[in-house]
Amino acid sequence: MIDYKTFHVVDHPLIKHKLSIMRMKETGSKDFRQMLSEIAMLMCYELTRDLPVEDVEIETPVAKMTAQRVGGKKLAIIPILRAGLGMVDGILTLVPVAKVGHIGLYRDPDTHNPVEYYCKLPFDIEERYVIVCDPMLATGGSASGAIDMLKKRGVKQIKLLCLVAAPEGVERLQADHPDVEIFAAALDDHLNESAYIVPGLGDAGDRLCGTK
Ligand code: PRP
Ligand code: URA
Repeated sequence: MIDYKTFHVVDHPLIKHKLSIMRMKETGSKDFRQMLSEIAMLMCYELTRDLPVEDVEIETPVAKMTAQRVGGKKLAIIPILRAGLGMVDGILTLVPVAKVGHIGLYRDPDTHNPVEYYCKLPFDIEERYVIVCDPMLATGGSASGAIDMLKKRGVKQIKLLCLVAAPEGVERLQADHPDVEIFAAALDDHLNESAYIVPGLGDAGDRLCGTK
């Protein structure tokens, strides 16, 4: 059972429209990349809604005032390679001072379990509020594995930004990491026998990079 207290589908006409373009099999890498980046930016707006703000004294051309700016922990964006890379620029458009780390995982084609091949994180990652991004939450193994790696390094505040989620992946992630809020653009129907999301959008990494 999905717990909707920590799983949010960001419901917006522009996101729906852009995601439909990404799903279409005739959409090429150029448009796929552009839509992924734009959706990531729109979703980042929602995901960061609860960032703390602090007062700051400023002076406008007319008068002094107490304004507000984002306070609290600094942000880090951690894409899961490869497909998560396509979300970084969109998020950075809204939070340009965020640091970026990378986690490399691929799914073993037979077991569908994630295999780790790269990890490079900001040196002060344990002090940061982390956004993990990956367009696909299928079995949930990759996202869960990436979050394990971050927690082992002391990270305490993590949110996951994905595009298309399968119920199986949401349930797995909520069981493994109940403290992690998940933001998705759509909740799809199920996984097929190859652990691909149905209807999904196919292999996000290959479509983004043009490798198939
Ligand atoms: C895809 C996707 C996720 C993962 C999701 O990556 O980008 O990382 O699969 O599947 P899961 O929830 O079952 O773990 P893939 O392993 O195909 O690597 P790629 O991005 O390099 O193509
Ligand atoms: N990875 C993808 O890229 N797509 C899926 O549907 C499942 C895993």
